[in-house]
Amino acid sequence: MSEPQSDKASNDTALRFYRDVLGLERLHYGIWNDDDELTFDALKEAQARYENYLLDSIPDGSSKILDVGCGTGEMCVNLQKRGYDVEGLSPDRNQKGYFAEKLKVPFHHFKFEDFEPEAGKYDCIIMSESCQYIPVNRVFENAAVALRPGGHLMVCDYFVVDHEAGILSKSGHDRAAFLKAAEGNGYKIVKQRDITHEAAKTLDMGKLIADRILMAADMFTERFRKKHSWTFGFVKWLARKKIKKMEDQLPLLDAKRFSEVKRYEFYLFEKA
Ligand SMILES: C[S@@+](CC[C@H](N)C(=O)[O-])C[C@H]1O[C@@H](n2cnc3c(N)ncnc32)[C@H](O)[C@@H]1O
Repeated sequence: MSEPQSDKASNDTALRFYRDVLGLERLHYGIWNDDDELTFDALKEAQARYENYLLDSIPDGSSKILDVGCGTGEMCVNLQKRGYDVEGLSPDRNQKGYFAEKLKVPFHHFKFEDFEPEAGKYDCIIMSESCQYIPVNRVFENAAVALRPGGHLMVCDYFVVDHEAGILSKSGHDRAAFLKAAEGNGYKIVKQRDITHEAAKTLDMGKLIADRILMAADMFTERFRKKHSWTFGFVKWLARKKIKKMEDQLPLLDAKRFSEVKRYEFYLFEKA
């Protein structure tokens, strides 16, 4: 079993941006209230509300927990505070470092699909917005090995329901295929909740942040643009592919469209 190679999963710049630039320890959407203002404090509260919902949903009788795609280790810290015997897993080398600063419990530096767990070791496996990165069959097959009989797999993530929605359809598992794979691998749904509406507001927040970054870039380049308009035009031309890529990604921050073509859902599965 080898350590992850140097690909996106082992050094995710977007996740580093959320933590190191925006100061977010939690790397998931969150559960917003309808009347929440679009502020960083409200975002952090929405993320904490989401995390507490997951922690409150851990079935009684669970003790040994694996947090798959554990991010910076924040949920593991809170699992430990609640008395669980916790282990983290992530292929990301930066997250390995953050985790070690916070916790002295096992960290498995792997992609879940490459992880060879001890059979029947865990009572509950949590995948908080990490399931989408793992090939769907490997999610259920590998969790089936790792869980004790009657153990639980908790998945909270977004799924694609409309495949004709361009770039928005490119991230997240196909919802129907995901549920079919769960059933085919002998899992039973014991709890389910659709949080699409409550989660989508994070995209409004993302849009606000993106607009502010663009506004700042505009302000800082104003004088240069006026003084050296030809050079600025040339630099812009050189960067045209990157600019086009960024423009193409803007629909990803459209909360209304997200709610139309995707579903953000919580599932608690019981292994047969
Ligand atoms: C959006 S973050 C969510 C982090 C954390 N669970 C949370 O809720 O804040 C996705 C996580 O999945 C991890 N990940 C990416 N590919 C993975 C894979 N193939 N197997 C396991 N984890 C993976 C990332 O490194 C990151 O920790």
